[in-house]
Amino acid sequence: TTRLVLDVDTGTDDAVAIMLAALHPELDLIAVTSVSGNVDIDHTTENSLRVLDHVGRSDVPVYRGAERPIARPDQPVARDIRKARFEGGISPVHGEYLPLPEATSKAQSKRAPEALLDIFSDPANEDVVLVAVGPLTNVAMALQLDASFAQKVKKLVIMGGAHDWPNVTPSAEYNFWADPEAAQLVLASGIEEIVVVPLDATHRALVTLGSCATMRASGTPAGVAAAEIIEKRIVGYRTAQPIDDDAAPVHDALCIAYLVDPSVISGGEYYVDVETVGTLTVGRSVVDIHNRIHEGRPTGPKPNAFFAFGADAVKFSEILVSTL
Ligand code: BDR
Ligand code: CA
Repeated sequence: TTRLVLDVDTGTDDAVAIMLAALHPELDLIAVTSVSGNVDIDHTTENSLRVLDHVGRSDVPVYRGAERPIARPDQPVARDIRKARFEGGISPVHGEYLPLPEATSKAQSKRAPEALLDIFSDPANEDVVLVAVGPLTNVAMALQLDASFAQKVKKLVIMGGAHDWPNVTPSAEYNFWADPEAAQLVLASGIEEIVVVPLDATHRALVTLGSCATMRASGTPAGVAAAEIIEKRIVGYRTAQPIDDDAAPVHDALCIAYLVDPSVISGGEYYVDVETVGTLTVGRSVVDIHNRIHEGRPTGPKPNAFFAFGADAVKFSEILVSTL
């Protein structure tokens, strides 16, 4: 069994990630922390609670997290981006509230960065994996509160970054762009094992309308909800980011599938950094892809992360469909 804490900005793909983490028999989801991102912090927190209630896992504590990036008080948040881009200010991919009943459970009073510190300071939690699938604000704040957090987290899986396939700007992926200083701090923190699942991987693991139909037919609360949410993503992507008319990425859930079966992603060890000053490139993940060719060269920083360039769409969908 893999025990994990999931940091989310729920969000439609985050919702599917929560369901997978909460329901897979080989995973033990011990806490959820919310962060502002796809929608603002009130919505990401409420949406996370909704998902857990809906799949019968209201026993998993939810800790409300950061509202704003660590160093950019003026960084536009999701709401501003939506206003600028979409009619009525609502994202066709994430909406605002998930189409699930209002949550009956409440968030814990402790805030997310403190909760992360407490959980990972407990020696009994040495084996817990931290999976962060929103802007990295909470994780960076935990590091700022206590630098030894980097030694306490043994393994961190991140959905973020893009080498060839950015989304929010021509250069950058959303999670890194939304809080670039946080992403940079986390990648440079020295955490022993960091796995980055960027858009390059998630766009190779599209979930089809056919898989949605199978999940819906299962009749389970998670299967039906995931089908509805992913179908909405597929329709939303047709206008927001046309890729494939009948399929869409479900980014965050790929990180959870990776915990179940590491071979669901492929890639290598690289030095990964994040641009924080470029006017055109702020938030871009910068991957030193020549690490491997020039292995052993004296210059150039050592790899600090596993960066996934590929993914196995069939394996991913199988995990999703069979679990939900
Ligand atoms: C990432 O940004 C959010 O929109 C998604 O939830 C995902 O975590 C993809 O760029
Ligand atoms: Ca997310």
